[in-house]
This record gives sequence, structure tokens and C-alpha cells, in this order.
Amino acid sequence: MKFSNPTQLTSAEDRLQLEWLIDAENSPEDNTGSDVIAGLSQNPKSLPPRYFYDDLGSQFFEQICQLPEYYLTRTETQILEKYSLDIAKITGPCELVELGSGSSTKTRLLLESYAEIAAGLRYLPIDVSAGILETSARELLTDYAWLNVRALVSTYEVALGQLASYPRLVNYKRMICFLGSTLGNLSPAECDLFFSQVSGALQGGDYFLLGVDLHKSKEILEPAYDDSQGVTAKFNLNMLQHLNWRFEGNFDLSNFAHYSLYNEDLHQIEMYLKSLKTQKVKLKKLDLNVEFEAGEMMLTEISRKFDLSEIKQELQKRGLMPVQSWSDSKNWFGLLLCRLQQV
Ligand code: AVJ
Repeated sequence: MKFSNPTQLTSAEDRLQLEWLIDAENSPEDNTGSDVIAGLSQNPKSLPPRYFYDDLGSQFFEQICQLPEYYLTRTETQILEKYSLDIAKITGPCELVELGSGSSTKTRLLLESYAEIAAGLRYLPIDVSAGILETSARELLTDYAWLNVRALVSTYEVALGQLASYPRLVNYKRMICFLGSTLGNLSPAECDLFFSQVSGALQGGDYFLLGVDLHKSKEILEPAYDDSQGVTAKFNLNMLQHLNWRFEGNFDLSNFAHYSLYNEDLHQIEMYLKSLKTQKVKLKKLDLNVEFEAGEMMLTEISRKFDLSEIKQELQKRGLMPVQSWSDSKNWFGLLLCRLQQV
């Protein structure tokens, strides 16, 4: 391994910068719950998927990634194991920016490959969950003496808005990584807006690395979102617990059930919480009363499945030109490298 300063090993602490772009306590954007009010006032009702990820929810998600039915993480990891060095050789030295970094497990493969082609490496993980962000940054720094980390507690929108004004390293490109098919949570319109935010955050010649789950049969997709151990059900129901805590709500989790299906027309998994009886729920901090009918379905997540050539066209519209794509032997998951066109 190579060190940026061979005469003196800097401690992990000196190589970490942690910055809050959103203030979990005070930021109105993060805490008013206006998105919860909007979703619960609609018919049919829905809740924003970002409320899955409190500390417990993030732990459930880590458990989902280990499930035999949930092939996404495993498949994307296989692709990265095989091709991350190829990616690094194509782009040359890059500063890596990761949106929704979570535990950064898959990112290690990329970091190690980039360390092989450049002496030092700067990594900017971005996550709304400060706890998991800081813990995984410290673990990375302990393991990698050549790494510098600037961790941003932020939503994607806020971070992408600020990235362009961050000082750049000489002779390094920037690469924004968005792995794990998190893109699937966005509607087509939200996707388009997101791609334009990504291209706005980059300079011509910079890169965007995107991992997406691909079209496949219902028989494989449905069990991935309704596993036999019931972890996905716990993950889904935990959103109500999170809302209870954050907004002083009184959702009774035993009055709701996990339900999911694959919508073949829209190529998306839809995850719902089904109200098991007629009931009233109150969210005190939001001054909100909600009534549910027996059997009523509340949408908590869409998880879209993509076609590589369609997504390439969408990216191209925003100046993100496809460079190369990789897949696994079953074509279940795709990894796509794009480059922002020079203007
Ligand atoms: C983190 C959004 C990629 O859609 O597969 C897993 C979340 N939901 N099981 C996905 C999730 C239910 C996951 N993403």
C-alpha cells in the first residue's frame, strides 16, 4: 500500500472531516414532516421511503442485504469484485463521492482499486444517517492509511447543490457513485431531476457510476421483497415506529401488515402497509389526525427495475454519456459508468 506522506503516518483522526450540511435537530427541511403530512393527506395514502432509515431501520436493511432472497447487494458486489479495477483504469485518478453510502461495504472494492492507480485518495461519503456515516468512515480510515475522508451528513439534493463549489484536487477527476439501485425509489420525473442535479454537480470529463436492478421475472422479484424470515416486513413496519418517535405518533404496529407486489406494467415493486382494521392515528407534533379503513393500503416504497438501454438514453439527455456497462452472468444487475460531456 502507498501512503500520501511516506515520512509520517497521519492518524485516522487527522484524516477525517465530518460536516453537517443538514442539522438533524433544527433543519426545517429535515424535520417539519411536511412530506409526511402531504403523503398521509393524499388518497391513496403514501409515506416517503427515507423514513425507513432510522438506526433500527438501517440495521434491518443490513439484514435484508444478507437474505438469500435479496440478490441485489450480493450481485452488485460480485460485479464490483470483478470489474472495479477496470473502472479505475478507465477513469484514472478520481475523488470518489458516494450518495447514500450507508455501511460503505461495496465501496471498499472501489477504494482499493483506486488506491492501486493513485498515491492518495479522497472519499466523500454522503448520508442522512450520521451514526452509520461516522462509524463506517472511522472503520475505513483505520483499515486504509492512504485514505482521507470528508463525510457529509446531508440529503442528496443539498450535497449535490454544494459539491460544484468544493475545492478540487489537482489532477483528479470526480466520480459520483450511486450504488445499490437506490435510484429505484425515484419516480421517472424525480429520476430526471436527480440526473440533472448530478450533472450540475460535476464538471465536463467527470464521472457518474450508477448501479441499477434490472428487469426480471416476478418469481425472483417478489420473494426478494417478502422474505421467508419476515425481515422485510419488520423493515416496513419499523417506519411507523420511527414516525411515532419522531412526531409523537401512536401507530399501533400490530394493526398493520406488510404487503408487497410486483407491478409488471410499471416494472416496479410496490411496498405497502395494510391497515388491518378501521382505526384513527394521531401524530401529535404534526398536529395531524389520520383515519384508516379496514384493508386500506398505504404505499411506503416503489423499487423500480430498469432496462439498461432505456436508462442510458435518460442519462444521455442530461449530458451523462455512457462509457461502459457491466453485468453479472444472469443479467440481474447492471453497473453503468457515464462521463459528463465537455461543453
Ligand atoms: C435500498 C432502495 C435499493 O429498493 O431494494 C429493500 C430498499 N426495500 N427491501 C430496494 C428495500 C425493501 C432497497 N433500496
